[in-house]
Amino acid sequence: MDINFIKNLRSPYNNSSLEKIIYKKKRNRIIDGILICKKSNRWFKIEDTILDLTKIDKHNYDDYLNFKKKYKVNFALKTDFDEIKFIDQQKEFFNKNTTRYEKEIIDSPFSKIIDRVLLKNFVKKYKSNKIKNILNIGGGSGREALVMAKNNLNVSIVDVSVEILKLAKKKLIKSNCYKNVNLICNYAEKLNIKDNTFDGFIIYGAAHHFNNPSTGFLEAIRVTKPNGMFFIWEPSITILRKIFDLSMKIFQIWKEEDNIKIIFNKNYFLKLLKKHSTKLKIINFILIPPHIYYLVPKFLHYCIMKFDLILSNFLFLKNLGGTLVVSGYKKSTNK
Ligand SMILES: C[S@@+](CC[C@H](N)C(=O)[O-])C[C@H]1O[C@@H](n2cnc3c(N)ncnc32)[C@H](O)[C@@H]1O
Repeated sequence: MDINFIKNLRSPYNNSSLEKIIYKKKRNRIIDGILICKKSNRWFKIEDTILDLTKIDKHNYDDYLNFKKKYKVNFALKTDFDEIKFIDQQKEFFNKNTTRYEKEIIDSPFSKIIDRVLLKNFVKKYKSNKIKNILNIGGGSGREALVMAKNNLNVSIVDVSVEILKLAKKKLIKSNCYKNVNLICNYAEKLNIKDNTFDGFIIYGAAHHFNNPSTGFLEAIRVTKPNGMFFIWEPSITILRKIFDLSMKIFQIWKEEDNIKIIFNKNYFLKLLKKHSTKLKIINFILIPPHIYYLVPKFLHYCIMKFDLILSNFLFLKNLGGTLVVSGYKKSTNK
């Protein structure tokens, strides 16, 4: 955790600023330390550079206990076991299935090609717009952060699973680009970061996992500076999506966490983001089912995805794509 970033953080309990005690640091980075909320007498640990701002519950209790013993932390360990069921389920799934998620999703031929076409293009646009500090909510194991950090963008990942953040750290270190990244375990719906902190944000295939996606998007807007640039990529409800869901039942290529209801369509984003943004662009994309990338040779993947992009702009097909790509800029307050 970058020491200079701490000033942007707020207490989850009362929004007051947080004081720090550093146990171990390297250059401008806190390796181990705690952030204290004096008003509520609560504290939050930074362990192996990862800040945890979530509740102390069954998922992180042992880590907190060991940390408290190791550094003889003088504050009481106040627990909060009443997690919202859906968030609890997400923590459970992503804490326990990091390896499987990597294999089934991150290393899949579909993810590889969509990242090459979509994610790299987002990064190009951030760079050409001189966007430097980016918030990545639900950033998981660093899929987006790796591409951004390699391109010298600064990234703060917020994710509810501490285990997936540990994996992100490992991958970022391996690629020699961890110095550009902050890892924060926290909820999309309540970021505890002050207004207008980042130059932009990205939410990439994650919001359909949030307990309350709309609150998550509005939080992202709140902490983004006026004119800050954003990108969202999420599944969308269309007829084609239903066919895809059916084909997943016959030939499953990855396992998603159960009970995820996809609620996004063009209207959803228009209604939610129009008044907060300028140059809002919402397009449906992905007409060709992801299964195809498992069946045809790799050298054809790029052409197929580009062909899909062309088809997705066609008059009759334009609203059918199974995912949505949303981009825009945060409206400045005086507009
Ligand atoms: C499908 S993964 C996507 C991760 C990454 N963006 C990618 O494409 O590989 C969804 C991520 O959202 C995180 N998540 C779920 N609910 C969350 C919430 N309420 N707040 C923050 N992160 C959340 C999960 O822990 C998981 O890492």
